[in-house]
Amino acid sequence: MASTQFYSFTLLLILFSSISNNFLAAKHGSYSVSRHHHHQHSGSHHGHNQAPPTNPKLQQAYIAFQAWKRVIFSDPNNFISNWVGPHVCNYTGVYCAPAPYDETLTVVAGVDFNHANLAGFLPNELGLLSDLALIHLNSNRFCGVLPNTLSNLTLLFELDLSNNRFVGPFPSVILSLPSLHYLDLRFNEFEGPVPPQLFNQGLDAIIVNNNNFTGSLPTAFKANISPSVIVFANNRFRGCLPPSIANLADSLEELLFINTSLSGCLPPEIGHLYKLKVFDVSYNNLVGPVPYSMAGLYHLQQLNLAHNKLTGGVPDGICALPNLENFTISFNFFCEEGWVCQNLSSKGIVFDDSWNCLPEKKRQRSENKCQAVYKHPVECSLVQCGGGGGGSGGGGAPFAFPPVMVPAAAPLFSIAPSPSNV
Ligand SMILES: *[C@@H]1O[C@H](CO)[C@@H](O)[C@H](O)[C@H]1NC(C)=O
Ligand SMILES: *[C@@H]1O[C@H](CO)[C@@H](O)[C@H](O)[C@H]1NC(C)=O
Ligand SMILES: *[C@@H]1O[C@H](CO)[C@@H](O)[C@H](O)[C@H]1NC(C)=O
Ligand SMILES: *[C@@H]1O[C@H](CO)[C@@H](O)[C@H](O)[C@H]1NC(C)=O
Ligand SMILES: *[C@@H]1O[C@H](CO)[C@@H](O)[C@H](O)[C@H]1NC(C)=O
Ligand SMILES: *[C@@H]1O[C@H](CO)[C@@H](O)[C@H](O)[C@H]1NC(C)=O
Repeated sequence: MASTQFYSFTLLLILFSSISNNFLAAKHGSYSVSRHHHHQHSGSHHGHNQAPPTNPKLQQAYIAFQAWKRVIFSDPNNFISNWVGPHVCNYTGVYCAPAPYDETLTVVAGVDFNHANLAGFLPNELGLLSDLALIHLNSNRFCGVLPNTLSNLTLLFELDLSNNRFVGPFPSVILSLPSLHYLDLRFNEFEGPVPPQLFNQGLDAIIVNNNNFTGSLPTAFKANISPSVIVFANNRFRGCLPPSIANLADSLEELLFINTSLSGCLPPEIGHLYKLKVFDVSYNNLVGPVPYSMAGLYHLQQLNLAHNKLTGGVPDGICALPNLENFTISFNFFCEEGWVCQNLSSKGIVFDDSWNCLPEKKRQRSENKCQAVYKHPVECSLVQCGGGGGGSGGGGAPFAFPPVMVPAAAPLFSIAPSPSNV
């Protein structure tokens, strides 16, 4: 697949050359391509400005885009108004490049309609765009289901459908895309379970937050799979974080399981995830202690355990983590903190330990509430997984969910819809 990757990388560079040369930033960060750069690349390199002599591939693409145009029912920004004539490479949002298997053949390699606010469907004819490496449809009003003909897109590297109105079960056609590395389905209305095969497909980023997914979390993460980013927040999953999460150690950098009805204890195997930078399991039903092994997460920057039912002490080793920037444990039942934890703000680390059972601190839970929890100590080996069922974390505490929906100024890997830079 090396040539496919090279193809996608080349295309990304074309798309993002005006923003950044940092591939990772382009890949995971802001997807907004400023559209006025669309016509700026001189024809000398990739033939963008000369209408390429039309070829069978572009003729098929023409059929596909005209079919798509027929099922786009609202275009308030006149985004597709120039989708006329056979020169599809001139269409707004359409990017052509030499085919990876034949440098002399110009093909449609990317579609980028981010923030176009189009409403409509994806037609079966999209299967004709078999050379697509990138599909970016972030922040439109596309609805319905994905056509199965997308399985024809064997070079597809990035699929961003975030912030649309797609419905139905997890689109299984995604599982048949051999080159896919980046999948972003956040802020749609998909429902039902996420198939476990998704984790064995070699995806680099799996972002499915803010849908209506249900069912159990995968219980067995296989070895040798490579996601670096997993964002499952704000769905109705259930189950525990499985010890097999350790199998993702060589790749995982961001794990966001916010408000996903996680239950049980945090497995000590989290400590194996040595590349982890962001770990957020807030707003769940986690119980028991924080595993001391987390003190080995050298790269950890953001750690959010808020709004659970965690008990015991907060180990000094975690507060002493060298890269820690923001550590939130509010709305739990912690009763002790190591001495390093007492003094985090002097090191410039944001720390919130309010609404726990810390006797020396202000803004804590009442003694009654704390005693009620400590009367029934948790035995992690006996905790059942899978029960769940959508309880709200935090044991009935005052509850103010952070404004994660705000799309503006979202940091890398934020769970909000991909931001706009335009
Ligand atoms: C496509 O762009 C080229 C170069 O800008 C132009 O000569 C050609 O007429 C355009 N074709 C269409 C159909 O707009
Ligand atoms: C798949 O792609 C090939 C090559 O472009 C094309 O001939 C074929 O019609 C496509 N199949 C579907 C179902 O779109
Ligand atoms: C999500 O599922 C719940 C319960 O099944 C249902 O009440 C709700 O309407 C669904 N929401 C969407 C956006 O589909
Ligand atoms: C948690 O997610 C559910 C959807 O699964 C949503 O209805 C609920 O508002 C979320 N909770 C918070 C506190 O946002
Ligand atoms: C620290 O993290 C918490 C929880 O994710 C967040 O609400 C807060 O805004 C963060 N603070 C800063 C200064 O980044
Ligand atoms: C907190 O850190 C500051 C600066 O590093 C130090 O002067 C102070 O003594 C520390 N306080 C405690 C209670 O450890």
